[in-house]
Amino acid sequence: ILVTAGPTREAIDPVRYITNHSSGKMGYALARVAVARGADVTLVTGPTEIKKPMFVKIVPVTTAKEMFEAVKEEAADADIVCKAAAVADYRPKHIADEKVKKSDSEMSLELEKTDDILGYLGEHRLPGQFLCGFSMETQNMIGNSRAKLGKKHLDMVAANNLKVAGAGFQGDTNVLTLITQDEDVSLQLMSKEDAANVILDKILSIQKEREKQ
Ligand code: CTP
Repeated sequence: ILVTAGPTREAIDPVRYITNHSSGKMGYALARVAVARGADVTLVTGPTEIKKPMFVKIVPVTTAKEMFEAVKEEAADADIVCKAAAVADYRPKHIADEKVKKSDSEMSLELEKTDDILGYLGEHRLPGQFLCGFSMETQNMIGNSRAKLGKKHLDMVAANNLKVAGAGFQGDTNVLTLITQDEDVSLQLMSKEDAANVILDKILSIQKEREKQ
């Protein structure tokens, strides 16, 4: 299983960067739970404060570009990919070599799009590989997440609404809805560890169904 976790950091100059509030807890929980269940786990991780799990191959990255390169390499022999990382969608178009000094006027940053890593995996899907994306929304969670399922050619999206108590970035709990082609399964508030187990159960049951067909 290949798991990605945490935020990415996109440099503006040698002292500043753009990032997001991802703690990496959901991805690390998935990696821990998967290895405890006997999986061979690779964790591609952005910068986080979390203790690295044992018996997991850790690939540390900083930028979306680095995550893209690492994931392309590591996905080649993964049966399951869980992309819990909160990848920057945009990065500064130019990284200044020297610290940008303030002036009296306003300033703006020109941003360019990063590669959509999961979109790439969906387009270049390996036979039998299961792709699980994550989605964080503040409105129209099911509609937006279902659109991601289709657009990125995924098998499942684990969606959460940032505005629901107990869901989201920094906490130890989550309130997920597992969205697949056939159904939306709304889960109760639970620890990220328990949520990770439910996600893996769901993936394995879908895979088992497919093997029967
Ligand atoms: N993702 C990715 N590469 C990116 C951006 C996101 O692989 N450059 C993955 C994330 O790891 C996550 C899923 O895509 O699994 C999130 O989907 P996305 O459409 O990118 O969500 P948002 O970035 O939240 O998109 P939007 O801002 O449009 O809601």
